[in-house]
Amino acid sequence: MTQEKQKVRKAVFPAAGLGTRFLPATKAQPKEMLPVVDKPIIQYAMEEALQSGVETMIIVTGRGKVAIEDHFDVSFELEQLLRDRGKTELLRQVRSLTERVQVAYVRQKEALGLGHAIYTARPLIENEPFAVLLSDDLMQTERPCIGQLIDVYDTYQSSVVAIQQVPHEDTSRYGIIRAERVVDDRFPGELYRILDMVEKPAVDKAPSDLAILGRYVLTPQIWDKIGKTTPGSIGEIQITDAMRALLAEQPIYGYRFEGKRHDAGEKLGYLKATVEMGLSHPEVGAAFREYLKSQQF
Ligand code: UTP
Repeated sequence: MTQEKQKVRKAVFPAAGLGTRFLPATKAQPKEMLPVVDKPIIQYAMEEALQSGVETMIIVTGRGKVAIEDHFDVSFELEQLLRDRGKTELLRQVRSLTERVQVAYVRQKEALGLGHAIYTARPLIENEPFAVLLSDDLMQTERPCIGQLIDVYDTYQSSVVAIQQVPHEDTSRYGIIRAERVVDDRFPGELYRILDMVEKPAVDKAPSDLAILGRYVLTPQIWDKIGKTTPGSIGEIQITDAMRALLAEQPIYGYRFEGKRHDAGEKLGYLKATVEMGLSHPEVGAAFREYLKSQQF
């Protein structure tokens, strides 16, 4: 019997981290609910997954669970109020996502690392490939970033991660890959076959300047690898370690996707994301551009 090609139907959104770089803003609300212009950052990631054909969204929550759940739930009172006041466009915006997505929640009881967070979604996914989106990487692309990775998955039937070249001095903040280029005209970005990867290497030990970003498509064989991964030096179960173990058994690709990424998980990146998303916002973009031009910075 030939094996059916499996589609990527589910996406995991880890949102149980402590968000310490954004304290005190993240003391009583999760980082993933911080807004950029008029949407929380997790909504951008969810829309990206939706536009890429993902059907089921699985959010890994910790603290602040209520704010995230409420955000993706129907709010009868709010909708009634908007209806009564004739605010049809706002009503449409509030409804549009909740109508289209199916969201499930799993709880990570302790923030034991990204690998551990992803693992909590295992019972809802088990034997199929899945996407992972970290919403603090806010992507500005023509074609959704995770959709670009899914295209690679569909062709190669292998795990694939989004990568980007970063300044050499920043390599110690990322998972860094050692890789060889694969020339494949079917993909407009740059495709690499990963040979090895290391989480947050010392700058002089980084095997390249190619960093793993917060978008992954993983095959289900990753589950056993995460299950066997022991906590690293800071006590967290790293997804990079599990992927490294997977690499010993099957290929993993890195894809330098087309588009821009903002690191909205730290202050400067968040400010840049706000400016760029503000400038391209259909409602306020033009006025915001005029405002910026008028300032003597
Ligand atoms: P980060 O590395 O940005 O950690 O996590 P963090 O805790 O959110 O933020 P800082 O570093 O303290 O400021 C990347 C993503 O993984 C999730 C986070 O919610 C974020 O979306 N995560 C991380 C978990 O869900 N659980 C964890 O144990 C760790």
